[in-house]
Amino acid sequence: MYRIKTLNKISSAGLARLDQTRFQVGNDVENEDGILVRSAAMHDYEFPQALRAIARAGAGTNNIPIDRCSENGIVVFNTPGANANAVKELVVAAMLIASRDIMGGAKWVQEQANTEGVDVAAAVEKGKSAFVGPELYKKTLGVIGLGAIGALVCNAALELGMDVYGYDPFLSVDAALRLDRHVHVVKDVNELYKVADYVTIHVPFNNDTKDFINAEAISKMKGQVRVLNLARGGLVNDDDMIEALNSGRVAKYVTDFPDNKITTAKNVIALPHLGASTPESEENCAAMAAQELRDYLVNGNITNS
Ligand code: MLT
Repeated sequence: MYRIKTLNKISSAGLARLDQTRFQVGNDVENEDGILVRSAAMHDYEFPQALRAIARAGAGTNNIPIDRCSENGIVVFNTPGANANAVKELVVAAMLIASRDIMGGAKWVQEQANTEGVDVAAAVEKGKSAFVGPELYKKTLGVIGLGAIGALVCNAALELGMDVYGYDPFLSVDAALRLDRHVHVVKDVNELYKVADYVTIHVPFNNDTKDFINAEAISKMKGQVRVLNLARGGLVNDDDMIEALNSGRVAKYVTDFPDNKITTAKNVIALPHLGASTPESEENCAAMAAQELRDYLVNGNITNS
């Protein structure tokens, strides 16, 4: 019997891959052979003797102590691409809410409805002109990182009639083939900053990408740019972003990685790490992660580590 510990709620589609005759699965399993995890921070996790593999139901592995895993011969799997569609859709929504003040308008209507004596239907005329924002059509999007998610974002933006610039210092042949031929791939990220009305980042978080969007990067961007970060919090330097928001250089910042400081800054729309939160993506990620664990523990096959 293989013992699998779950450190987060894992979709039943994933658990179904681990048949009960061979796998004991649960959050109370001890001396586990494998771990299924979503976003739980594992940096202080004490590895049990039996542990051979950790599967992350998601793309990023920065909640897992990779160095310690390598030292202990523990294989780490992730699920690249399994939630790419969910993230792409949220990026499209993020561009829209950064433009049309949909959130402000909805909040305003709610406030009217809660104000004694206000006729909401009559008040609409006022709201209509108070929440005007630009269209995406014919605007320019800059996409940093052209992996599974970045490529889908580029292609979706083209469908919306946007002009799209993409940058990736490690663009693989496979990734390039996934990109629509109308995407302008640039070798220098500054070329993208120069033209983009919207900048979105989709690279893994590591020592090289920490603070990728900082004061210097922002100074190269167009004034009134809208910036989106649905990848990882540390990719954007929050202090520099707050300064740019206060000065008006950045018109809006949408982040999926809120903390007390950034959330209360001017013109920030903060979401609770919703990028992959669709039932479809949770199922895809869980199924892929469980399959990877099973293949490795039972057959010694390594995929996506
Ligand atoms: C990812 O790295 O793909 C996401 O963080 C997944 C998640 O939201 O759990």
